[in-house]
Amino acid sequence: MRIVFLGPPGSGKGTQAKLLAERLKVPAISTGDILRAAVKDRTPLGLQAQAIMEKGELVSDALIVSLIRDRVAQTDARGGFILDGFPRTLEQGRALETLLLEAGEGLSAAVNFEVPESALVDRMAGRARAEGRADDRPETFRERLRVYREKTEPLQAFYAERGLLAGVDGVGTVEAVAARVDEALAAVRRPENRA
Ligand code: AP5
Repeated sequence: MRIVFLGPPGSGKGTQAKLLAERLKVPAISTGDILRAAVKDRTPLGLQAQAIMEKGELVSDALIVSLIRDRVAQTDARGGFILDGFPRTLEQGRALETLLLEAGEGLSAAVNFEVPESALVDRMAGRARAEGRADDRPETFRERLRVYREKTEPLQAFYAERGLLAGVDGVGTVEAVAARVDEALAAVRRPENRA
């Protein structure tokens, strides 16, 4: 299966992507994790991305699309993948569609995690205290949320038009949310739900 995970920052995409990847035996590919590793290693990509990430803005579409193009071409992703944090703009969504079409493949589903803003703020404050991730600071987190609403939320309509959108209530225990992901994926794959 080729799945994308959508949702605001802190909605649980990364947590659930890792769990679903184990269940489906496909890689979970997180653009945020790839970028953070590049920043840590001070690679050219990391040096370009660091200041942008610390402000809560998005790294350029061209850079991210080229990163994803290379990553999904790797052997472990041939049988499917879960994309966590990509696409994040309509341009990235269209680029992914083209990339998959060129490979003769299609997307199976776009899972959208729904979590109220008050819960997101609490989760981020908790992680900022526990892990000290620079972009979890309250002012930067607010900017990430603003960018999400402006640039990423329109992808919900993009995937709904294609019959691929599967909404998941992201509030509850990690296990309860994981069970909802499985149900949502089963529903979106039923023929009567396909456009
Ligand atoms: P990225 O790393 O993708 O950050 P994000 O989308 O803001 O997501 P988070 O990792 O904060 O949250 P999540 O939804 O994955 O939730 P998580 O499971 O971690 O991106 C970081 C930056 O990189 C961007 O701002 C941008 O600059 C750049 N970037 C990345 N991709 C890009 C792209 N495609 N284009 C351009 N730029 C890009 O959980 C959050 C917290 O909640 C954790 O503490 C977790 O333990 C907790 N939690 C999880 N599930 C639950 C639950 N059910 N109940 C209670 N707590 C829970």
